Amino acid sequence: MPLLVHGVLVGEGWGRERRLGAHRVRAWPSGETARRLDAGQSREAERTMANEWGPLAGLIGDWEGEGGLDTAYSHAHRDVIGTPYREKCSMTPFGPVDNGPQKLYGLDYRSAMWRGDEQSPFHTEVGYWLWDGAAGEVVRGFVVPRGIAVLAGGTTSPDAGDFVLRATNGGAPYAIGENRYLAQNASTASYEVRVIVGEGTWSYDEVAMLHMAGFEEPFAHRDHNTLRRVG
Ligand code: HEM
Repeated sequence: MPLLVHGVLVGEGWGRERRLGAHRVRAWPSGETARRLDAGQSREAERTMANEWGPLAGLIGDWEGEGGLDTAYSHAHRDVIGTPYREKCSMTPFGPVDNGPQKLYGLDYRSAMWRGDEQSPFHTEVGYWLWDGAAGEVVRGFVVPRGIAVLAGGTTSPDAGDFVLRATNGGAPYAIGENRYLAQNASTASYEVRVIVGEGTWSYDEVAMLHMAGFEEPFAHRDHNTLRRVG
């Protein structure tokens, strides 16, 4: 069977699917054999997900939020402006991924944000959230299609409902990469996101510190939103 990820054909054998409760889970080729679960096992399944996906379990699903606020320097306005936005986000669980003895459970995610009733999103992200239960480490790797890749991370407990991830430009192990234009004109020095997971909701509050050409001081490009589960 051809495999579709977010509607994109990624080829056969990329990963097998199993079901955990209401969720489809992709098992990677290096992973353990897919487990079979029927509807009667869904409570057990939810517990399994809470264990394997740790603090990421509450982020699994499809999400929407209308109350986003972006603070950015707008070239069109030649000023720093606050822009309200609406957002859609999908997080599909997969795992385990084995790096030698390390076992990762993750979420394959895609998000998009729109201004008002515009048709095209003004910001999008694709990436992965990863949980290493043995190390208590959360990593979020994503790409912003203006030429930025972020690998942010932090440590927390498996049942945490509130955690922070950070990355710095040139940092290790959590780093930010950017294209040549941005490195010279609008370089991202650091990235920090606080995530709060609730009942059927989750929120983020993130700041990217930018060194903008023409600005004396680093500029705080901030985004925050609360999303509610829609699937
Ligand atoms: C919800 C998340 C985000 C939204 C809605 C958003 C939106 C925006 C907007 C509206 C601009 C201004 C573009 C213009 O009018 O000139 C901008 C610029 C920028 N954003 Fe974001 N952004 C988000 C997240 C991020 C993140 C996570 C990073 C980096 C880690 C980032 C890095 C940048 C940079 C470097 C620019 C400056 C581009 C330039 O001036 O040449 N943004 N963003």
